[in-house]
Amino acid sequence: MEINLSTGTEKITQIYTGPGVFVDLREWLDHKKDLIDSVFIFTDSNTRACCLKPLTDQVPFLLDANILEIQAGEKQKSLQSAEYLWQQLTLKGASRKSLLINLGGGVVTDLGGFVASTYKRGIPFVHVPTTLLGMTDAAIGGKTGVNLGEIKNQVGTFTAPDAIFISEAFLETLPSEELLSGFAEIIKIALVADSQLWENLQTLNKDVFTLSKRGNGVWNEIVSVAVQLKCRIVEQDFTEQGLREILNFGHTIGHAFESFSLLYGKNPLSHGNAIAIGIICESFLSVKKTCLQPGVLDAIVSMIFPRYLQYHIPEEDIPLLIDMIGHDKKRIGSGNRFSLISSPGNSHHGVCCERDEILECIRLYRSLQ
Ligand SMILES: NC(=O)c1ccc[n+]([C@@H]2O[C@H](COP(=O)([O-])OP(=O)(O)OC[C@H]3O[C@@H](n4cnc5c(N)ncnc54)[C@H](O)[C@@H]3O)[C@@H](O)[C@H]2O)c1
Repeated sequence: MEINLSTGTEKITQIYTGPGVFVDLREWLDHKKDLIDSVFIFTDSNTRACCLKPLTDQVPFLLDANILEIQAGEKQKSLQSAEYLWQQLTLKGASRKSLLINLGGGVVTDLGGFVASTYKRGIPFVHVPTTLLGMTDAAIGGKTGVNLGEIKNQVGTFTAPDAIFISEAFLETLPSEELLSGFAEIIKIALVADSQLWENLQTLNKDVFTLSKRGNGVWNEIVSVAVQLKCRIVEQDFTEQGLREILNFGHTIGHAFESFSLLYGKNPLSHGNAIAIGIICESFLSVKKTCLQPGVLDAIVSMIFPRYLQYHIPEEDIPLLIDMIGHDKKRIGSGNRFSLISSPGNSHHGVCCERDEILECIRLYRSLQ
């Protein structure tokens, strides 16, 4: 399936999903061959080991590409890594007509997109996302960037890739925790934008989470829907002036849990796990602020509780957690702005919630445990 994402500029990103995606990539490269003088593939250590060969087996033209590699992990999404990559591109003679293929999860696509959008003031690049989170979220929408010390995504650009090629084949080697991390973002997009997808997720066979059953086409279908939903939102607000904020549902409190667990917890929460907890908390807020039906809240809790680790936050630490929400960039006056839902598929951004209301929803989350 081909989806065209228009970014408000002249650029249109072609997004290919589904079983024929490697044929699409071969044809796309063939079509561009006169415009490109060399190809670079950027990987991290895991995607080089797990994803490079499956890619070059399907697209032999890429066997001659220059390989750039960094260690895996969020820590590598830094200015130091960007500098290393700019230097490697320079040493290996990359020109403004070189193509960068980012083969990896969100770290690789965010960092690779940033490097490509700044090297020689911008070179062509494509994403081949290899995590569920990358396929449905990080690779889509043109946000590129690096962290500055502990501050996530502090430096970056809005630059859309030329194309994105999404194949569920890469999920076959993805660790289960990473699959669940991406699934949390799919739950989110269903809740904010598509009641039908939300219905479908509730009937999803749990087999699709096991390693051996991942390549049976189910993920292709879900990913295609999630990608179309994200494109529909991004197209209306490429640089996040308003509507795109609805994609932050679950993230304001989720990020605070993530940071709190990293700073003070013995077992840091993964990003996706923290977002899953954030979705529960912000669903409590949605009942109070945007009239979400309690029955839907129950369904959300039932979807998330059995799959994700729960985080015990001691009563005396809740104020600290709320202070961390205060550091979120969506703060306004004495309250915080949230993206909430009134029903699956109906969302609202910029809903101001006071400290007491946030406190109450975190206590309600605690009471579930
Ligand atoms: N740009 C955006 O709009 C956007 C949106 C959401 C998240 N993000 C960013 O995305 C990043 C998180 O992305 P992520 O969850 O994909 O993390 P990630 O890129 O770190 O990948 C997770 C882990 O899985 C490994 N991996 C990747 N693909 C694999 C495969 N097929 N088989 C085996 N191992 C594989 C990676 O090496 C890594 O260890 C964060 O930096 C976040 O800020 C960006």
